[in-house]
Amino acid sequence: MDAGDVVERADLSSAPTVGLRPLEARDFPELVEWLNTPHVYRWWGVSSGPGSLGGPDTDAATLAQVAEKYRASVDGKDTTHRYVILSDRHPVGMIQWYRLADEPGYALAIGESPNGTAGIDLLVGVPGAIGRGIGPRAISTLVDGVVFAEADLHRVIGGPHPDNRASVRAFEKACFAFARDAMVPDEGPERVMARDRGDSTRR
Ligand SMILES: CC(C)(COP(=O)(O)OP(=O)(O)OC[C@H]1O[C@@H](n2cnc3c(N)ncnc32)[C@H](O)[C@@H]1OP(=O)(O)O)[C@@H](O)C(=O)NCCC(=O)NCCS
Repeated sequence: MDAGDVVERADLSSAPTVGLRPLEARDFPELVEWLNTPHVYRWWGVSSGPGSLGGPDTDAATLAQVAEKYRASVDGKDTTHRYVILSDRHPVGMIQWYRLADEPGYALAIGESPNGTAGIDLLVGVPGAIGRGIGPRAISTLVDGVVFAEADLHRVIGGPHPDNRASVRAFEKACFAFARDAMVPDEGPERVMARDRGDSTRR
């Protein structure tokens, strides 16, 4: 997907329209806010593993840290590809994907073959936007419109903490199925949820 492109999935119900566009530097201040919001840093914050940002008080992410971590992605020089989640065209969160082939140690830890498989992580950062079905639709939009547009990829996984019921459920609603529970060194337990190319797109 080229910078500036928007992938959008309309819904016929009263639920908000969900779209994606590539992360840009102008999104960094909002990203700082999202990372420092309790329902996000509980799962994404500094305690979730090395290199993570966000938390309360002195653990709070700063604009400088966010710019340093995400600049390469904005410049197209990172193997992790990041998008802003838009709800009715307003930024409400971020979703990212990467090839497991670029993270072979992680692939080994979660029991997945790195070949042909992508990993996904996301956050809906605006508190008023969670619980409205935006996360599952962002996942489906990314998988159908971006990840499976890559001919070499046939499988996508998410790895929420097993206690993160909202996230496990969001992946289920996006047609992912339980694969296995795994333990990732330095990061902790993960419930590996997977969807293969050709799996039903609605659940
Ligand atoms: C996990 C997350 C992406 C889910 O996205 P979402 O848009 O909130 O997903 P949904 O609205 O479909 O809700 C999914 C489930 O969350 C639970 N949920 C609903 N409202 C909720 C609320 N206000 N607070 C917490 N959980 C709620 C429900 O179990 C719901 O499933 P259901 O629709 O079958 O009842 C989002 O909540 C989030 O970003 N959380 C913080 C960061 C995070 O945990 N990221 C995932 C790391 S892998």
